Amino acid sequence: MKKNKNYNDFRVSNSDLIQFNKFGWVNINLQVEDDLINRTLTDLRLMRENAINSKYNYGRIYYDYLFDFNLASIELPFNNQICLENVREFFSKAKIGSILSDFFNSDDYTCTLARLFCMGDYKYRGVWHRDHNHKNLFDYGSQREKIDRLQVGIYLEDQTGFRILKKDYEDGFSKSIVNNRVTQINEKSFFPMQPNKNSYYSVGGQKGSILIFDPKIFHQGSNQRERFDFHLKFEKNFKGAKAINLFQDFNVVSYLHEKIKLNDKNIPDSIPKIKRQQFSTRLFNSLNYSLPLYNLYKIFKKYNYISAIRSFGKPDIFSNTFYQKEQ
Ligand SMILES: [Fe+2]
Repeated sequence: MKKNKNYNDFRVSNSDLIQFNKFGWVNINLQVEDDLINRTLTDLRLMRENAINSKYNYGRIYYDYLFDFNLASIELPFNNQICLENVREFFSKAKIGSILSDFFNSDDYTCTLARLFCMGDYKYRGVWHRDHNHKNLFDYGSQREKIDRLQVGIYLEDQTGFRILKKDYEDGFSKSIVNNRVTQINEKSFFPMQPNKNSYYSVGGQKGSILIFDPKIFHQGSNQRERFDFHLKFEKNFKGAKAINLFQDFNVVSYLHEKIKLNDKNIPDSIPKIKRQQFSTRLFNSLNYSLPLYNLYKIFKKYNYISAIRSFGKPDIFSNTFYQKEQ
């Protein structure tokens, strides 16, 4: 496998490209100086505080707690209303677009989703899922010409825990533990499952690196402590309205532009708005964190679905509690 002459970022080696074709994910070190990474991290913490204090509109809450507003993500994070100076400088130095051109073997791609994950200091585990239909898994083409979407995690601190299914265990491969039926039932059960430990990679990234992965592969978000990492999605040959931020070397969908005014006219309904969870949910989440009875209740309620996907894994009873295990 050779790199295309037109796209040749010095940080991407041939073995990185080979690894991506084989596993569907790879880590690349951005080679940005430590001082800037630390300053960026300080700004990200500040962005979270500002979002909470200024009642910023766009973001998500997964597990809210009784006495702690556990904001999980900030959406539209490049917007002037929330983005801080060191974050802009970080993007201008990181030149992520230059790396992505190597993988797409093209410069015609657009960032269509940008999210800053900023969960508080709790253990968190999401539900296994795919972000897209999974036809032709692992078929990227020898020049990676068939890659249509890539997802990128940007790590400002060492972070592991993100899980991604190994090729052999994927739908249609030799040790497959998942198919369309399992995917659908798993969505209905909406509970984090624990498959055999050999079936997935536990990945993430070191401080100052990115994880590039194929969002069609079955994956599960997971962390053992607070986190501040970006998730960006890029689509090849995107036809919608696009723009470019001065501090970035890639196109973004129009509403991710730094200067777009944040109102209902400009921002599609698909971008979630921050809304604290009900008092009762926060109470149950808080109690469940040290005594997982709410988890037991959820498993009991969805038992039919959960038992129908036993071939995939067991319900992870300690997920989203103090007792959640890393592996
Ligand atoms: Fe995902």
